[in-house]
Amino acid sequence: MAAIKVDSLFGGVMRVVQWSEALSVGNGQMDADHRELFGLLERLRLAVQENQPEPLRVEILGELVRFSEKHFRLEELLMARAQFPDQALHRAEHEKLLAQIRELYAKVSKGDLPLSLSVFQFLYGWLARHIEVKDKVLASTLPPHAPD
Ligand SMILES: [Fe+2]
Ligand SMILES: [Fe+2]
Repeated sequence: MAAIKVDSLFGGVMRVVQWSEALSVGNGQMDADHRELFGLLERLRLAVQENQPEPLRVEILGELVRFSEKHFRLEELLMARAQFPDQALHRAEHEKLLAQIRELYAKVSKGDLPLSLSVFQFLYGWLARHIEVKDKVLASTLPPHAPD
């Protein structure tokens, strides 16, 4: 599987955000969620690039917060069931991102911060790196057919 090079995705240009097999962690449930997260990120990218109305951007960011909460709960359940040794560290990364995106959402929804390219890049860079590095390690330790 090819590693993604997050830094090369930017260069001042916002490219289409699309989940691809290169991002597969090898676990169907996690991959399905990551696809959905990338779909939300692409909606956010378009909303910023096309200068769509601020309420719409705020709504998409809110969806991203809620979906991230749901997705992190799934991964935390999978790691607890599998007694994943690094679960405390992995959980801590989730908590850190959630704290950051909740704060961003609070600021953006109050109009204290414009939902700009740099906000999008932060979210995309963080999630792509987390999937590429941490989620792949987690998924590699999960049983191939984890029960739902
Ligand atoms: Fe994940
Ligand atoms: Fe994760």
